[in-house]
Amino acid sequence: METVRTVRKLRTALRSAKLSPVGFVPTMGALHKGHLSLVSNATESCPVVVVSIFVNPTQFNDRNDLKNYPRTPESDLDLLRGVMRERDIVFMPEDKEIYPEEDSRDFRFGNLDNVMEALHRPGHFNGVAQVVSRLFDIVKPDKAWFGQKDFQQLAVIRELVKQTGNKVEIIGNPIIREDDGLAMSSRNRLLDPELRAKAGIIYSALSDAAIMIMDNDIPAIREHVIKKIENAGGFSVEYYEIADDIELKPLHTKNEMERGKRYYGCIAVKAGNIRLIDNVELPVM
Ligand code: PAF
Repeated sequence: METVRTVRKLRTALRSAKLSPVGFVPTMGALHKGHLSLVSNATESCPVVVVSIFVNPTQFNDRNDLKNYPRTPESDLDLLRGVMRERDIVFMPEDKEIYPEEDSRDFRFGNLDNVMEALHRPGHFNGVAQVVSRLFDIVKPDKAWFGQKDFQQLAVIRELVKQTGNKVEIIGNPIIREDDGLAMSSRNRLLDPELRAKAGIIYSALSDAAIMIMDNDIPAIREHVIKKIENAGGFSVEYYEIADDIELKPLHTKNEMERGKRYYGCIAVKAGNIRLIDNVELPVM
């Protein structure tokens, strides 16, 4: 694989590859098996794949979070060498390549701006939309892969593509989990070891909800999920909502579930100072 750091070199590399469709996996580095499964799916489906590694400052609403975000470029490249081919490209730009000038674009995503992550991380999805639209302009992919762990981000990106008329196909990949069920995330490595040892409780509680929904309504399920996680000690639940995967309208009662739609129990949990998100699909009752 070739590693390039500038837009000019990326464009030259893609031009000389003369291959299509172009697959794209945007990342912020600190790669784990979840990222590698996105890259493997991309290489299975596209003759040339670009993986970007760029910690996007505009999507961090908390300066400390940006400062502490794990950066592991050498091990990222080692891991990518294991799954990428000679003709594939890793794009590792500096900030000024992505933002030669300040990006003041203001994206609007309707209801997606008013629920869950958007309420707890103001400005986050605007920053995601800025960087993803910019990366799409640079890479011009035919297909792009994103993880379903970032449930709301995936919906925002689908909406962004619709709004901008971009023809790129967006593909969501299933969540890859650790043995105890914890969803793989770059932030897991920042967890306090004691909390990491207990963090499987999040998936366990989300999975309970998928069974409870048969005989219980949403308030009882929410109470159970929150209690189970918080009783483990050291965790604080920011929200638990059950929502569909298109409009992300949180449900108040399971009578609002519609056949033909897919619903997920979505959670954000603070484990000490580290914020984790996850989701599990629920059957329609
Ligand atoms: O999911 C991520 O890692 C980031 O939000 C993304 C899509 C690479 C944009 O910076």
